[in-house]
Amino acid sequence: MNNTLWYKDAIFYEVYVRAFYDSNSDGHGDIKGLIQKLDYLQELGVTCLWLLPIYPSPLKDDGYDISNHYGVHPNYGTLDDFKELLDSAHERGLRVVMDLVLNHTSDQHPWFLAARANPNSLFRNYYVWSESSLKYRDARIIFTDTEESNWAWDEASKQYYWHRFYSSQPDLNYDNPLVQDEVQKIISFWFDLGVDGFRADAVPYLIEREGTSSENLPETHAFLRKIRRFINKNYPGRILMAEANQWPEDVLPYFGKGNDEFQMGFNFPIMPRIFMSIRKADRTQLVWIMSRTPFLREKNQWVMFLRNHDELTLEMVTEDERQWMWEQYAPEPRMRLNLGIRRRLAPLLDNDRRQIELAHSLLFTLPGSPIIYYGDEIGMGDNIWLHDRNGVRTPMQWDAESNAGFSEAPAQSIYSQINDDEVYGPAKVNVESQQKDPNSMWYSIRHMISIRKGHHAFGWGDFEWIDCNNDQIAAYRRTYNGETILVFQNLGGQIQNISYKPKRPMKIRTDLLTQLEFASSNGRVDLQLEPYQYLWLK
Ligand code: NOJ
Repeated sequence: MNNTLWYKDAIFYEVYVRAFYDSNSDGHGDIKGLIQKLDYLQELGVTCLWLLPIYPSPLKDDGYDISNHYGVHPNYGTLDDFKELLDSAHERGLRVVMDLVLNHTSDQHPWFLAARANPNSLFRNYYVWSESSLKYRDARIIFTDTEESNWAWDEASKQYYWHRFYSSQPDLNYDNPLVQDEVQKIISFWFDLGVDGFRADAVPYLIEREGTSSENLPETHAFLRKIRRFINKNYPGRILMAEANQWPEDVLPYFGKGNDEFQMGFNFPIMPRIFMSIRKADRTQLVWIMSRTPFLREKNQWVMFLRNHDELTLEMVTEDERQWMWEQYAPEPRMRLNLGIRRRLAPLLDNDRRQIELAHSLLFTLPGSPIIYYGDEIGMGDNIWLHDRNGVRTPMQWDAESNAGFSEAPAQSIYSQINDDEVYGPAKVNVESQQKDPNSMWYSIRHMISIRKGHHAFGWGDFEWIDCNNDQIAAYRRTYNGETILVFQNLGGQIQNISYKPKRPMKIRTDLLTQLEFASSNGRVDLQLEPYQYLWLK
């Protein structure tokens, strides 16, 4: 298999460095801490890390507000630490992808400080200014809970500046070729260090035009193609992953024509439908969205995820579906944030091991490459009372000792409260105890990962629904290079009996996960599926 296509079979793991492990007892997770935990990640079986932003930043948006693109936040370490991380990861065969925040900078970035201080400065035109706050009115507001407008008034220069996220994150002006050049410099800097790729943040919003939604504009695509050409020429094989929270038909152009934009794109629309299908015990919504989701071949790949560091976004659903998801999964008002839900995977799924494993089975077997959000592999909980999205960014729970084994700093100097909850706190949920227990969820997830890694059908294979005359069963065929894997998943809490006629007669089918064998008679396979049971039959 061509190694430049490694991401087709990759298992990603999203690391919030600040939350992962504190090596110097200052209360913040750091790069050296992450290096110490690479063995853990390797044992879990993940193959690529995605690091949330580690750049110098006032941390008003947890690092998505960058004040220097060429460094490491002092709380997290130094550039030398980062080089050591890359070396240590690569020695283990682990790749490292980092965030590339294109759309905006921090308002503390020297470019913005200069732009603000002097309207005649070269940097003024790095940002988007206006006399009026009525321009680009068709652009929606994304952080609806905190922002009232996409314009903020700058008292110093008596103009408004444009921002799609917090007002402390002014948008860069991509109509300015100098800004485009800066991006190439930033990309080169990190690729020269050895980074394997970027998760490009918020790509739909780079350029704005009057009379449009200012999302997914042709000019934005033209710029992204230019970046891809630059990478292909200078850094072949490095990957770009698009964070475009859009419907499948609007994400598709981000893959470009003939791979001239992104290799990978996050699959936002399928994510809430995984939760819908489990709560409704009905595959209909999954089937519907898959029919709208193009199958990606060759060099392209969907990125699949259940949860991440943001709210569980409900942008790619209808208004009725959003209300339903809120009623079902966020009954307390405090659980809701913007157009989404600020909760982690385990609490969303009632801390029911069977449902959590089923969700992972869907994550690992639907087309795409999966991302695991740190802590979800042990079923960490959330703290909805923390500000904004901080409740899903609490310290990793390594053991039941003080500070969950995350840090030796005094509790009050830790960047966030440990999630000291009766059900989800470190006394109940931690890595150490799950690693000691071969029946733990951690082992189940690790096992799924290891099986998935042994079969290219999951990352590459064709996808076809199997109709079992039963909407409670999400069943499909994944086929690649002569290998077929049949995935059967009971989405609900009732036992289901199904009888299904395979395309190819075959006497015995083996569940890859348990090695249990299922015989067929009269050309049919009869299966009894326990609540939330999943089978990966070969
Ligand atoms: C998407 C990121 O995932 C989110 O955390 C951030 O706040 C916005 N982009 C703005 O950068």
